[in-house]
Amino acid sequence: MLVFLMISTITSQHWNSEESLFPHTNGAPGKILHAIQTSQIALVDNAPKGTQLKLLLLLEGKQKIYFKPKRYNLNHVINGNIYGGFDRHNSEVFAYYLAMVLNFKWIPPSVIRRIHIHKDIVPVATAGLKRTMVKNDSGSLCIYGKCFYCKINETVCPDSNGEIEGAAILYLDRQFKIHKSPWRRSYSTRKMEWETDNDFCKKVKGILSAKRLLNLIDVAIFDFLIQNGDRHRYEVYKDQIVLLDNGKGLGNAMVDELDILAPLYQCCILTASTWQNLEMISGGILTDTIKKLGALRGHTLATEEHFKAVERRLLKVYATVQYCIGKHGRSKVLKNGFL
Ligand SMILES: *[C@@H]1O[C@H](CO)[C@@H](O)[C@H](O)[C@H]1NC(C)=O
Ligand SMILES: *[C@@H]1O[C@H](CO)[C@@H](O)[C@H](O)[C@H]1NC(C)=O
Repeated sequence: MLVFLMISTITSQHWNSEESLFPHTNGAPGKILHAIQTSQIALVDNAPKGTQLKLLLLLEGKQKIYFKPKRYNLNHVINGNIYGGFDRHNSEVFAYYLAMVLNFKWIPPSVIRRIHIHKDIVPVATAGLKRTMVKNDSGSLCIYGKCFYCKINETVCPDSNGEIEGAAILYLDRQFKIHKSPWRRSYSTRKMEWETDNDFCKKVKGILSAKRLLNLIDVAIFDFLIQNGDRHRYEVYKDQIVLLDNGKGLGNAMVDELDILAPLYQCCILTASTWQNLEMISGGILTDTIKKLGALRGHTLATEEHFKAVERRLLKVYATVQYCIGKHGRSKVLKNGFL
């Protein structure tokens, strides 16, 4: 089938580009989404590592995808730590569309998918996965999985149709280099250097290339918009940060944790093309575009409150950049890859 050919061709090493992780022309992104949303499942296993319950699905045509199951309804509010709670499956998909809108091309395609516990999973489940499934008190077959935080009493159960909803995320069979983020949180009450040193960016400039620093600032804006405060490390491929693991966004629409933007307001620099892209999505265009993209695949990706929150945070990004421009001048702030 065309779709299978396509997906295996473009996700293998054949796609050799410095511009993006996947082709973005001739409708390729839509074909990839369609394939990972609908292709027959040949094998299901627990994902080999990670902190959160995640399945690894082998599709017909040999493409692998991660499946992050839904843990919360869209209107569930995560209180407490910015990195708290289970991953939000809709945050993964929202992040993919947000990245497309911002023209960030280094992110694996992700889409909402529903899989049936008895039709799609059980017949092709590995023995290892079956060992992490339990019947709950009403006799439904549920999964607790295998991961750092997985607990037998914290299962994912099918809905009344026997289906589990989740984010289907294209699996990238590539070698990533992993780096610690200079702006990582301590995950305790201890303050990190970036939280106490106003000149922290100077130090980072001494360590990282201009390209990497500007890339980290793009990622900070992206994470701020969805409120993903959990990117303590980042993966690099072809000298580009790849946006993996975006499930910690959209936790609480009432909160804007501003320090996720620290790379931007501490360094006061930004890639000029990022600024252009940000300016183009003002006045509700960001929301409209993500809603339309989600609707194309039949999904609502966030509540109205979350869309409003993302728009509100976008205004804060504009204000931060304007503050920087006011302080240092446009030519010092907006960069074309060189500092
Ligand atoms: C599951 O059990 C652990 C202790 O093993 C407990 O800390 C946790 O709160 C329980 N989770 C739920 C949802 O009851
Ligand atoms: C068992 O799982 C089913 C399906 O998710 C759910 O409707 C039911 O309430 C659960 N029963 C118990 C006792 O948790």
